Amino acid sequence: MTPTGPKIPYGGDYNPEQWPEDVWDEDHRLFTAAGIDTLTVGVFSWSLTQPAEDTYDFTVLDRILDRAAEEGRRVCLATGTAALPPWLAHKYPEVNRTDFEGRRHRYGQRHNFCPSSPAYRTLATRLAEKLAERYAQHPALLDWHINNEYGGACYCDLCAEAFREWLRDKYDGSLDALNDAWWTTFWSHRYTDFAEIEPPSALTEHWRGPDHTAFQGITLDYLRFTTDALLGCFLAEKEVIRAHDPDTPVTTNFMGMFRPLDYHRWAPHLDFVSWDSYPPLDAPPTWPALAHDLMRGLKDGAPFWLMEQTPSTTACRDVNPLRRPGELRLATFQAIAHGADAALYFQMRASRGACEKYHGAVIGHAGRDDTRVFREVADIGRELELLGAEPLNARTPARAALLFDWDSWWALEISDGPSRLVKYQEVVHAYYRAARESGADVDVVPQTADLTPYDVVLAPALHMVKGDLATRLEAVAERGGTVLTTFLSGRVDAHDRAFLTDVPGPLAPLMGIRIDEWDSRQREFAQDIPELRTQARLVFEIVLPRGAETVATYGTDFYAGTPAVTRNAFGEGEGWYIATALDQPGVNEVVRRVLARHDLVGPYAGIDGLETATRVAPDGTRLLFLLNHTTESARLTAHATATDLLTGKRTEAGEPLTLDPLGVAVLRLDHKSLSK
Ligand code: GLA
Ligand code: ZN
Repeated sequence: MTPTGPKIPYGGDYNPEQWPEDVWDEDHRLFTAAGIDTLTVGVFSWSLTQPAEDTYDFTVLDRILDRAAEEGRRVCLATGTAALPPWLAHKYPEVNRTDFEGRRHRYGQRHNFCPSSPAYRTLATRLAEKLAERYAQHPALLDWHINNEYGGACYCDLCAEAFREWLRDKYDGSLDALNDAWWTTFWSHRYTDFAEIEPPSALTEHWRGPDHTAFQGITLDYLRFTTDALLGCFLAEKEVIRAHDPDTPVTTNFMGMFRPLDYHRWAPHLDFVSWDSYPPLDAPPTWPALAHDLMRGLKDGAPFWLMEQTPSTTACRDVNPLRRPGELRLATFQAIAHGADAALYFQMRASRGACEKYHGAVIGHAGRDDTRVFREVADIGRELELLGAEPLNARTPARAALLFDWDSWWALEISDGPSRLVKYQEVVHAYYRAARESGADVDVVPQTADLTPYDVVLAPALHMVKGDLATRLEAVAERGGTVLTTFLSGRVDAHDRAFLTDVPGPLAPLMGIRIDEWDSRQREFAQDIPELRTQARLVFEIVLPRGAETVATYGTDFYAGTPAVTRNAFGEGEGWYIATALDQPGVNEVVRRVLARHDLVGPYAGIDGLETATRVAPDGTRLLFLLNHTTESARLTAHATATDLLTGKRTEAGEPLTLDPLGVAVLRLDHKSLSK
């Protein structure tokens, strides 16, 4: 249940409590000028709404919401529990986290409360309850925004005790089960009492930081525990909101590919997903696209909200490049193309002081409406008016799926061997990018997802194989589909214990191969893969075909001529195994062959920097988004007759279609979709 309305909500984080009310007048004038209809408020106002433990004061928040309502704007109301007031941390030191090195923090910063602290839980929940009681019926209320960007871990004694409880529950009170799962006979670690278990930190199992652990089992369980502990904080707030407000949708803002929290465990508890997009510097456009698709996949393809992006620059990085003219618009339509039903910014008005004073904002310190950024924001506002309700609730049906699995991510990156250089996101992104650049829409789904709608399932770096996944992947191939997996897949079970069978474990029958050995080398070393006219790096698994045919081989070393890529006929379909980290051109070639087998290469594939994505409205109307990520015009030939919703221009199939540099077209195709 994503909040609904007549158009895509447009606006963002707004902190009028930092300003006198005459500034608010100016804000609302500018909001109207820019087509801004949605404001996220109260994210950091705990010290204002509760100045002391027994004092609540909603005067300012009342005025903010009332004013929004008078102006016809809707509010995404935050519970504000992500930044503690000083009195709280001072009075209850337990709310301050203990870090990985064992240092108890003192008051400061934000996003830093201990998830196991009863004082935090009680006070945060009480605040959420007061807000729900007061504003559930407020005409401005559009949705609830609990806390902000949950993340991080705590290693205090309260968390240690909560972890032991979590383990008792997980292992049904059986230390034998736990000892077996963590393989504790290794290095004399057999536990005889739950009380002996310590959180895995720099003081216990770790060295050289959070990724180097003596026992992957305990570290994995602590990551899962932390996910659940923070989720518990969210759920406690959600419960009290629901007691006073049975209907208004509830969310919290995620962070896309954020390693510390397994969002698949959270997603069922949110009414809709929202997330904050701050792509890494110089990331290719497929990087935020992957994050959007991951966020959409959290709730089975339901539309999500873009809760934050910067209109111009970030502030927290060492170097904060400016979004060039046109880039904000492109990023905004990219989000919508991938399933976003809201386009919100951080932030509406720049903070005057503190660490985000140089962070981009719709309204800068001088309060002008004639800046380039303001004009671009206002232009996007007008285009969203034009789009109206068209994209709202439209789905993004895809016939290719990519499995994304936090357990595999964690297990791979906390593993000693085969290589510390393999990064889960990089491997996953390489395959995602290849599929998207071939013009295929891709659903990014959890490993528990129903795989029956898909012709192609990409499962890169599927290090951990759980439950009946191998059987479900075999079923995809049985009925004619293609499953692709890569090096370092099928290695460990849900407890990070190696399978006692040939590598790739439960995936071996589908792949028709056996692996006994693997080599790993520094990043600079490249191995030739002659058949694909590319190179490969990092890890080189030595594949013995057991039914599979060889697609490409290693060019050098004692394993020269042995398979680097294989294809195995399985049922009506195929299993592809990529035994090494192919450079991107090699990944592109392999993925394109797989997609071609299912006729999934898009009509505009191969046009440099052109991204396509389709959304299908509930009535079957198809919207094709064309996004030109280059600074050159893109000249295409229309593959179908369509009307551009942003210009009203109609193009017949076969006619030329030009996109400006960084240009966008939202084409309503003449023919509706019959499926989905
Ligand atoms: C995050 C937070 C915001 C703000 C922005 C700055 O996304 O949620 O409060 O700090 O970063 O980029
Ligand atoms: Zn703690």
